[in-house]
Amino acid sequence: MNFTIGTEPTSSFYSFELAAATHKLLNDIMLLRRGEELVVSIDTAGDWRVAQSLAEQACILGAIPTLIRYGTQPAAQMEPPKPLGLAIQGADVWIDLSVQYILYTEARRKATELGCRHACLAGMDVDAMVRTIGQVDYPKLIALGDEIVRLLNSSNTIQVTCNRGTYLTADLDKNAIQPGGIATERGALIMLGGQVGCLPKEETIEGRIVIDGSIWPPDDIGVLQGEETVTLIIKKGSIVAVEGGSAAKVYRNWLGKFGDSNLYRMAHYVFGFNPGVPRLTGHIAEDERYFGSMTFGFGAMADRIAATHTDCIVLFPSVSLDGIEIQKNGKYMHPSLYDLCKSLGVRGYQT
Ligand SMILES: [Fe+2]
Repeated sequence: MNFTIGTEPTSSFYSFELAAATHKLLNDIMLLRRGEELVVSIDTAGDWRVAQSLAEQACILGAIPTLIRYGTQPAAQMEPPKPLGLAIQGADVWIDLSVQYILYTEARRKATELGCRHACLAGMDVDAMVRTIGQVDYPKLIALGDEIVRLLNSSNTIQVTCNRGTYLTADLDKNAIQPGGIATERGALIMLGGQVGCLPKEETIEGRIVIDGSIWPPDDIGVLQGEETVTLIIKKGSIVAVEGGSAAKVYRNWLGKFGDSNLYRMAHYVFGFNPGVPRLTGHIAEDERYFGSMTFGFGAMADRIAATHTDCIVLFPSVSLDGIEIQKNGKYMHPSLYDLCKSLGVRGYQT
């Protein structure tokens, strides 16, 4: 959270705009309907104003809100307190605002099996809600994501490079999805809009990733400062070396302390494209959607157990699919993507 003018922590800050954003999230994205049960979970590091606003808007929609606030856990992806795990099993919609988010956990798996539609909005504060949901044209954002998914799933190879030295090649596995869509299905998982993810065939992922955006977790790194970069050497889809200065040393030690080889395995490539993210904040839910970025995730994923999950952001990647460049230095160049960015009103895509 970046306090720039001193009013952000107050209850009146963006209060009208927050109401519009939480209403959009519940009504248009999570499809919360009259009589449905909503659970909002939030840890003590989260922004209570957002939880409160969600409850108010749920009442306006005729739904039944329950808010659960609990102590901030030491890490993301830990099982939540037992009462929260039981509460989400009875919910039609669950919105998680906790900074130490609860995603690949047993509690969530059980709730999903029972049909709960889950929005994972880790650490979303008032400012982020307004910028990344309230002020964004969601149908156009989803159209852009659908087109990235279409391109990925109709291609066989992906090459990612960047001016800092990233060079990563892989064979695609036609498994791209847009988790930032609309909760039309029972048990849907909804992430903040502006994200498409895929995992190429693991054994084919080879090269080096030069991270210049942020790394989180661990908390000790976050947004990389100045010109610092961290280089990951990737062989057969796993990190085999971490190179660089002080941040690289912290990351290498942090990865090593778990003693878990699954934590070194690639979990996703993510294209980020939410126009409401103008800068990195240190909040992963936003930073992963920095417009034109790519986030590489390692460790736990839906069908893989690992000690935790960690994300690494390359700010301005160039991406080629089957040898055709669709993105150059963070800017989408494929004609259909360019036009969709233009219609979204993204800076740098105007005629
Ligand atoms: Fe991730």
